[in-house]
Amino acid sequence: MPIRISIMTGALAAVFTLTAMAAETGKDIAYNRSKGNCLACHSMPSLPDAEQTGNSGPPLIAMQARFPDKAVLRAKIWDATVSNPQTMMPPMGKHQVLTEEEIDKVVDFIYGL
Ligand code: HEC
Repeated sequence: MPIRISIMTGALAAVFTLTAMAAETGKDIAYNRSKGNCLACHSMPSLPDAEQTGNSGPPLIAMQARFPDKAVLRAKIWDATVSNPQTMMPPMGKHQVLTEEEIDKVVDFIYGL
């Protein structure tokens, strides 16, 4: 009996973990202070809920027009020091601040700004 209960508890925990992971959107990651924390340095003028942002980085707006090649945008986020060795922006991919999957989600999200 105790074994059955622990198997059920384990299965439930797995379901909750999967739900939590699936629910994490690019926006969640970008806004999360302990993840991308993009708002610390970038405003997002097209989003009313992007509040109390920093401005040490350029506003993230019209991304598709400014980055017609999405791969260039992804590379910027993966390691901003490549295009600007003096940048303050943390190399999200290179320093494993974000996983590859999280970077893809963030790129998809900001590509809509
Ligand atoms: C500590 C501050 C900081 C954080 C955090 C930060 N950035 Fe940046 N970012 C900058 C600065 C400064 C620049 C401008 C210098 C440069 O091009 O590297 C920049 C440039 C950019 C650019 C190029 C913008 C353009 O118009 O050329 C993009 C895109 C970008 N950041 C996206 C992001 C995303 C997405 C996140 C979150 C995952 C993020 N940044 C987090 C500081 C930051």
